[in-house]
Amino acid sequence: MKEKLQNIIKAAQNELSGASASDALEQLRVKYLGKKGELTAILRSMGAVPAEERPALGQLANEVREKIENIISEKKEQLKSKELENRLGRESIDITLPARRQPLGHLHPLTQVEYDMREIFIDMGFEVVEGPEVELTYNNFDALNAPKDHPSRDMTDTFYFNPDVLLRTQTSPVQVRAMLEKKPPLRIISPGRVYRNDEVDATHSPMFHQMEGLVVDKNVTMGDLKGVLAEFAVKMFGADTKTRFRPHNFPFTEPSAEVDISCFVCKGEGCRLCKGEGWIELLGAGLVHPNVLRGCGIDPDIYSGFAFGMGIERVAMCKYRIDDMRLLFENDIRFLSQF
Ligand code: PHE
Repeated sequence: MKEKLQNIIKAAQNELSGASASDALEQLRVKYLGKKGELTAILRSMGAVPAEERPALGQLANEVREKIENIISEKKEQLKSKELENRLGRESIDITLPARRQPLGHLHPLTQVEYDMREIFIDMGFEVVEGPEVELTYNNFDALNAPKDHPSRDMTDTFYFNPDVLLRTQTSPVQVRAMLEKKPPLRIISPGRVYRNDEVDATHSPMFHQMEGLVVDKNVTMGDLKGVLAEFAVKMFGADTKTRFRPHNFPFTEPSAEVDISCFVCKGEGCRLCKGEGWIELLGAGLVHPNVLRGCGIDPDIYSGFAFGMGIERVAMCKYRIDDMRLLFENDIRFLSQF
C-alpha cells in the first residue's frame, strides 16, 4: 500500500506538470482527489491493512493528499496568469470609438433663478430662513395687519384647511415667524411656495414661488429699501437697470410701494416685453407697519424695518423672456434643456 501511495504521487506530479489548461487541471484533481479518485480508493481499502500499520499509512496518505493539493493550487496560479497574459495579448480596446455620452441634467430654471437671487441677497448680508407652507391664518393675515374683511381672506380666494389653518398665500408670514423667533437686527430672505385659488393661465398658477425679504434694525429707512432693491435689480438684470417705486397699499407696510425695473430689452423705450411701458412690474415692498412690529414684540419707537416680496416665476420669466408661466411647470424637456 505504501508503494501504491508513492506511485500515486509520482504519477500525479508527472501528469500535473503536463497540464496546460485549467479544465485539464480540474479533471486531474477529480482523478486523484475526487470522491471516486485513486487516493480516495486507497483510503477506503485501509480497513484491510493490519492495525499496527494503519497510523503510519494514514499519515502517509494525508501527506500525499496535501502534496497533491499543493501542486494543484500552484499549477492553478501559474495557469491563471498564463491565461490572463494570453487574453491580454489577444484582446485590444479600440480607443478611437467615441464614448457613449450620458446626457447630464441640470437644475430647473426656477431653481437656478432662486439660487441666483439667494446669492445676491446673501452677498448683501441676508440670511436664508424658511417657513412652512401650511400656515396659521393668524400668521398669514392677522399678524400682518390684514383687516378681517380683506378680500384675500375670502374663503374662495385661499385654500383653507379650517378657519385657523391654510396654505400660505404669500411668504410674508415668515416675517412674523422671524420676528417672533429672533431679536433685531434682522436681515432675512425667505424663498418658498405659496398658494392661491387662481385658475391656471399664462400668468397665474394656484402654486407659485415667492421670495420675501425683511430687515429690522434701528434707523431703517425707505432709502435703505431702495438701495437694496436697486442693487438687486442691477445684479439680476444688468448694470444699467433702473428701479421705480410707485405708491401702493399693503396692510403690513406703510408706506407701501410697487417696484418696477426699467425694461432691459428696450432700455425704457417701450417694446413687446414691457408692453410699450418701458418698465416692468417686479415686486411689492414697503416699511414694516408699526402694528406688525408691535404684534411681534418689537418696539416701533426704537426699531423700524422694510420688507419686500417678489414672485420667483416673475423674475425668471423676465430674465429669460418666457411669456407663459405654464412652461415652467409642464417640465417639457425641450423647454427645460434651453437653460
Ligand atoms: N406679500 C405681498 C404679496 O404677496 C408682497 C409684499 C411683501 C409686499 C412684503 C410688501 C412687503 O403681494
